[in-house]
Amino acid sequence: MASTIKVMIVDDSDEVRESLRMLLGTLEVVEVLAEARNGEEALRRLEVAHPDIVLMDLNMPVMDGVEATERISAAFPHVAVIVLSVQDDVEYVRRSMRAGARDYLFKPVTADGLLQAMHEVHASSTRRTSQNTVALLADRFTRQTRVVACVSAKGGVGKTTVAVNTAAALADQGRRVAFVDCDLQFGDAALMLNAKPDRTLADLCHDAAEIDGELVEGYMLQVSTNLWLLPAPLRPEAAEYVSPGHLRLVLQALRRRFDFVVVDTAPVANDAFFAVLESSDDVLCISTQNVAVLKNNRLLLDLLEQVGAELEAPVRHVLTRASSARGGIRVRDVEQVLNGPVFAEIDNDYPFVEGSINEGVPFVWSHRGHRLSKQVFVLAAKLEEETGHRLHRRSPLRRLAPR
Ligand SMILES: Nc1ncnc2c1ncn2[C@@H]1O[C@H](COP(=O)(O)OP(=O)(O)OP(=O)(O)O)[C@@H](O)[C@H]1O
Ligand SMILES: [Mg+2]
Repeated sequence: MASTIKVMIVDDSDEVRESLRMLLGTLEVVEVLAEARNGEEALRRLEVAHPDIVLMDLNMPVMDGVEATERISAAFPHVAVIVLSVQDDVEYVRRSMRAGARDYLFKPVTADGLLQAMHEVHASSTRRTSQNTVALLADRFTRQTRVVACVSAKGGVGKTTVAVNTAAALADQGRRVAFVDCDLQFGDAALMLNAKPDRTLADLCHDAAEIDGELVEGYMLQVSTNLWLLPAPLRPEAAEYVSPGHLRLVLQALRRRFDFVVVDTAPVANDAFFAVLESSDDVLCISTQNVAVLKNNRLLLDLLEQVGAELEAPVRHVLTRASSARGGIRVRDVEQVLNGPVFAEIDNDYPFVEGSINEGVPFVWSHRGHRLSKQVFVLAAKLEEETGHRLHRRSPLRRLAPR
């Protein structure tokens, strides 16, 4: 059991303090020691209370959060300040970090996001210098991670082939990519990437009392310059070590450390599957021109619509093994059944794909000029383009807010 993290809440709004207290009350490992309504009050309380972490608002009367952070860092260097603010202006982040804040989260925060930040700050308080904390945060600040889940309600459609080659194509384009194999019982991404894992997602979840980004990276296998793999358990029975909560923490921990996190899933709509979807920014739904595949994916889409609220990621349809002579099912029909446009198409070429799987090298790497590789590069480019569009529509800083 992890030791308790002692927290002080500093915010001038009674409502915010109350909601933070309630949020933190749901976390067993956290104890709220004290509260203050401004920086001055916080400094006074720190003379008697000894928290590990101060959750600090910025705009407050009497003494604001930046000044309070500066004074706390000087007078109580063992106390870590995490700024919680609605300010998404980079200048506020810089000022807070210069004042000595250890992290900066945007309101509203979630319990998971807050817990993760507190764990990271708490765990690293003895081993990290303030200088590399700033570097780490600067890196996080500029990184716009996209978590992309590949799903299909039917097995054997070519989902892992799409996932692995998309990740490889993004890595080839210079993106730092994490591949997380969440096909927990029969994941075969390691095989398709010719990787021989010593440690897997199951070992991570089994060994670790706390999951943070540094730890997760320690369980990943570097496959190429830009591609890292967190392999699925090596044996089906080891899947039980991985809970939906673990998956949320792992995917959250990888945010801001990679440009893309590509997640492969099993064709089972269980809690683990929904945990992945809740943690994703984009969902690639893989279909083929097959009535059973289309019927099951249609059912899956209906199910996603029913659970609605938590699943914000748009679903994009990828048609794989596509052929013009497919038993009368045309792309138009696919779009009609799935009630959405086909985002990307990958042709049918069994010997070619099978060769690449058996060789253990993504075809986008071994046969860059092949028709299928070009189609996957287009898919990867479209994913990037989407990201770019979103950044125009939404403040990039908002992407740093924990989800
Ligand atoms: N574009 C394609 N053209 C022809 N065959 C393909 C194509 N993509 C995949 N396949 C074949 O489909 C089979 C299944 O592929 P893959 O393992 O990627 O599917 P999956 O949906 O991940 O399966 P599972 O549900 O078992 O995880 C493989 O034999 C592969 O060769
Ligand atoms: Mg698969």
